Amino acid sequence: MRILSGMQPTSHLHLGNYLGALRNWVKLQDEPDSECFYMVADLHAITQDYDPEGLAQATREIAAAFIAGGVDPAQSSIFVQSSVTAHSELMWLLSTMTQMGKLERMTQFKDKAGKNAERAGLGLFAYPVLMAADILIYKATHVPVGEDQKQHLELSRDIAATFNTKYKTETLIQPEPYIVGEATRVMSLQDGSKKMSKSDPSEKSRINMTDDADTIAKKIKKAQTDPEPLPETVEELEGRVGALNLVTIYAALAEVSRAEVLTQYAGKGWGEFKPALADLAVEMLAPMTERMNQLMDDPLEIDKILVAGNEKAHQITQKTLKEVQETMGFWK
Ligand code: TRP
Repeated sequence: MRILSGMQPTSHLHLGNYLGALRNWVKLQDEPDSECFYMVADLHAITQDYDPEGLAQATREIAAAFIAGGVDPAQSSIFVQSSVTAHSELMWLLSTMTQMGKLERMTQFKDKAGKNAERAGLGLFAYPVLMAADILIYKATHVPVGEDQKQHLELSRDIAATFNTKYKTETLIQPEPYIVGEATRVMSLQDGSKKMSKSDPSEKSRINMTDDADTIAKKIKKAQTDPEPLPETVEELEGRVGALNLVTIYAALAEVSRAEVLTQYAGKGWGEFKPALADLAVEMLAPMTERMNQLMDDPLEIDKILVAGNEKAHQITQKTLKEVQETMGFWK
């Protein structure tokens, strides 16, 4: 298995990113036959408004979060997308065989561009082609992504197939989406019908990977629930979005099923459940926060790790790029 995934350095990571993505990356790294590449997707981050002065630091911070969350630089390559230039080069080549009509159907583009699609940058429109290049240049077999990126992954498969058919080759590999175990969708603590998100204006809606114990406990205490106690079965949580979210988070943190959580807490009130959940969250996040702060105090150490990851990524991606260029008939 060759695994590739990435996250944008747009802002601090939260519990949803950890439980929904990062923890899964760590599990994949620990599979016996896997080779993992984890990328800070800074070229994707510039497709929308961003702060040039903070970009390099945000890149280090996401890399630190990968490491604090358990990605081991000795086992997996951690690298920066913009430093591995073959990504952009392959993107151009692939863009010539990607139909505009297919890009127009991407729901994330429609969401991000909003009513002003005519004014959106070409980069935002072509975002999925860069993502396809990210994946295909490693010949990744498996790509751990959340629901929101499945459509992009499907397009990557499509582009790989188009290339292979057009050039009568098997150079590019069609990647599969991959999640170990159950995918956890963590919702906003303030509104259990919305995803926990870094773009939510309310800080209370999310638990950040850098929150201290006190802040975590306060946010959980204020989290949305309802007057009913915890039910006996998962079915009874239907429609109780806040309650369902907290039970889901508990189950994910403790790595047990929701049913098991309910066996333990059925009939109990939130006054009892919330402190238990807060303890669990703190226990899990505290060591990560500490490691993350240590790393952020030592940016040279992070840079060293990134330079090594970039080098490894460079070797592999140059090989694929050459193959593709040859297949396409370029002069050399
Ligand atoms: N678009 C992804 C996101 O915002 C990040 C990303 C960029 C990515 N390139 C990728 C994820 C390649 C998986 C594979 O979440």
